[in-house]
Amino acid sequence: HPFRQAQFLVSANRLAQLPADSGAEVAFAGRSNAGKSSALNAICDQQGLARTSKTPGRTQLLNVFPVGDPARRLVDLPGYGYAKVPEAMRLHWRGVIDEYLRTRASLKGLVLVMDSRHPLKEFDRHMLEFGAASGRACHCLLTKADKLSRSEGLRTLAAVRKELAAFAPDATAQLFSSLARTGLDEARARVAHWLGI
Ligand code: GTP
Ligand code: MG
Repeated sequence: HPFRQAQFLVSANRLAQLPADSGAEVAFAGRSNAGKSSALNAICDQQGLARTSKTPGRTQLLNVFPVGDPARRLVDLPGYGYAKVPEAMRLHWRGVIDEYLRTRASLKGLVLVMDSRHPLKEFDRHMLEFGAASGRACHCLLTKADKLSRSEGLRTLAAVRKELAAFAPDATAQLFSSLARTGLDEARARVAHWLGI
């Protein structure tokens, strides 16, 4: 699969440091510690590509990973709403992420990563509503599915899909586990489609 070619390009602290806003980009968004960086690594089959950590707040910049071609990129976003980061930094990141999501023309899709044990928290709903309102496609990864039994996983997926139908009807959802490597093909297919590969 093409994601094996993904490489780190840049950590941007401001939008001006991002590559030119052309081609296609897919961003991984979600609450702190949800498993965004781990999901990106699993999709790319490269363990150390994006930094992961047990400590929430690990990803602090917009990290950009071209997939083979500089015009096709994955972006690992910092987690939203981590209370132990200093207030000024939290506000800075909120501003940068909001502006990125609002203005980035090459952003073709959002992968919304949620811990399958705690899906659809306030931030997630905000992101899905934003996606629906702005016409950004959203795909939800219900990750850490290895923590749920098979039946709990299926029940969670059905409940999330039902809720999505009510307020973000174009959004899609799947079970995922970076650890158990489940749901990879489905996630890759979605992201590849957005990137045009
Ligand atoms: P921030 O960048 O800090 O917002 O975090 P993140 O959303 O990028 O999460 P990250 O990928 O760093 O993972 C956070 C923690 O969850 C780490 O301890 C991971 O090992 C763990 N984790 C991630 N994915 C999975 C998974 O599928 N299953 C299990 N059991 N643990 C996971
Ligand atoms: Mg991260």
